[in-house]
Amino acid sequence: MKICCIGAGYVGGPTMAMIAAKAPHIEVKVVDMNAARIAAWNSDTLPIYEPGLDEVVKGRRGKNLHFSTDVHGAIKAADIIFVAVNTPTKTYGIGAGRAADLRFIESVARTIAEHANGPKIIVEKSTIPVKTAETIKDILAANARGFKFEVLSNPEFLAEGTAMADLTLPDRVLIGGERTPGGEIAIKTLVDVYANWVPRDRIITTNLWSSELSKLVANAFLAQRISSINSISALCEATGADVDEVANAIGRDTRIGSKFLKASVGFGGSCFQKDILNLVYLCEHFGLPEVAAYWESVVKMNDWQKRRFASRIVRSLFNTVADKKIAVLGFAFKKDTNDTRESAAIAVCRDLLAEQARVVVYDPKVPADEIRADVLGKGREEPRLMVASSAYEAAQGAHAIAIVTEWDEFKRLDYAKIFAGMQQPAFIFDGRNILDLARLREIGFRASGIGK
Ligand code: NAD
Ligand code: UGA
Repeated sequence: MKICCIGAGYVGGPTMAMIAAKAPHIEVKVVDMNAARIAAWNSDTLPIYEPGLDEVVKGRRGKNLHFSTDVHGAIKAADIIFVAVNTPTKTYGIGAGRAADLRFIESVARTIAEHANGPKIIVEKSTIPVKTAETIKDILAANARGFKFEVLSNPEFLAEGTAMADLTLPDRVLIGGERTPGGEIAIKTLVDVYANWVPRDRIITTNLWSSELSKLVANAFLAQRISSINSISALCEATGADVDEVANAIGRDTRIGSKFLKASVGFGGSCFQKDILNLVYLCEHFGLPEVAAYWESVVKMNDWQKRRFASRIVRSLFNTVADKKIAVLGFAFKKDTNDTRESAAIAVCRDLLAEQARVVVYDPKVPADEIRADVLGKGREEPRLMVASSAYEAAQGAHAIAIVTEWDEFKRLDYAKIFAGMQQPAFIFDGRNILDLARLREIGFRASGIGK
């Protein structure tokens, strides 16, 4: 069996590496039009940082795992073609700011139709709006030269930072397909690939539309929990309740559960906001404005939470941060990844710069150029934005520290030493609630967290 995956990103790379590792008898080729990215996959420094990924890739690369820019050749050779291209929010035309931009999906469908030389199973791995399989099938049917294509939906549920663990033992694998004889065979073929390592009872099969929609709904529910606890964090700050204590108390109810109740400076990442906005757009499209408004409030609450964090810093620093130095610790959207897409740190830095603060960022995995480009826009310079190469350097001479990403190394810093090098009074704002605020106050810090 030969598999190819079009799109060598955060999903395509790790998922294909896992298939190659768990099913050594399957030939896996990951292709991308981005030559630099493919070169990085073939080098010592992989294009994405993900704990455990290096070992798996380097263990299989050159054996049954290959990275290449030869998209056409890979399509010809493959029995199963995964499509893991990006599906960002549309920035133009109808649905701008909400709908998914499906141009990469459509272009891949056309390329497959053009270069396929036999029947293929096409697997939607990207997150897409419900009914996208219909578009793909239409394009394939209009362009294919009599070959039979089966389209399956197989959304990915991995989270960055824990991708390899998530892929090793997923809560579930979801496969949607048509309930026709051809569709059933395709579903079984894909089930058998995953069954090489995933217990059968964790592999769920559904119809195409349920599978496509379930992905958007899963992300909407997860993000909704974060916005819910973040809304309560504001009430905690007003009343003296502690949001982590509230989260623990409610999470002990097994009907609520303890996961995804960590109050924060706001959720980031490439998908939550994009996927909820996509759900909102679909609801509007299908004439359900009340449902659309309900889900849109999850994103609005998140935007408010990010702004609230920055304005709390300004308020605490005697209502002005102009020319004050603020150390922002962490820039990735969560720990253990170098991904900064939609990171709350971007909004926090921009708000502080708008207040004329001097902002010094430190992140263990995000390069300086990336930080500048994300905050200012590519190629722009702003002397008030600086990047440090350690947390100690960032905090030297600062008036305040803002923890924005929960990197483990921030828990282990020598805060007494940091305090001694700061302007007094020294403030610390823990946007992730990873630090012991009582201990920081003993050192002399004016310390606060989210919802505390
Ligand atoms: P990404 O931007 O990291 O990777 C996508 C890759 O596709 C890019 O390298 C791009 O060059 C390539 N590509 C685009 N069009 C192409 C074409 N026509 N031919 C060849 N290559 C092409 O994106 P990602 O984070 O891997 O996400 C991919 C999809 O998976 C999205 O729909 C996303 O919503 C979904 N998803 C992402 C995650 C995640 O953790 N990042 C998790 C689950 C689902
Ligand atoms: C999320 C989902 O968890 C995955 O299941 C899904 O596959 C993926 O989106 C996707 O579709 O892209 P990811 O965004 O990589 O994964 O990471 P999460 O762990 O979900 O964190 C998202 C954001 O929420 C981060 O900024 C994180 O810090 C924040 N978060 C998470 C909180 O603020 N509180 C929490 O309790 C949990």
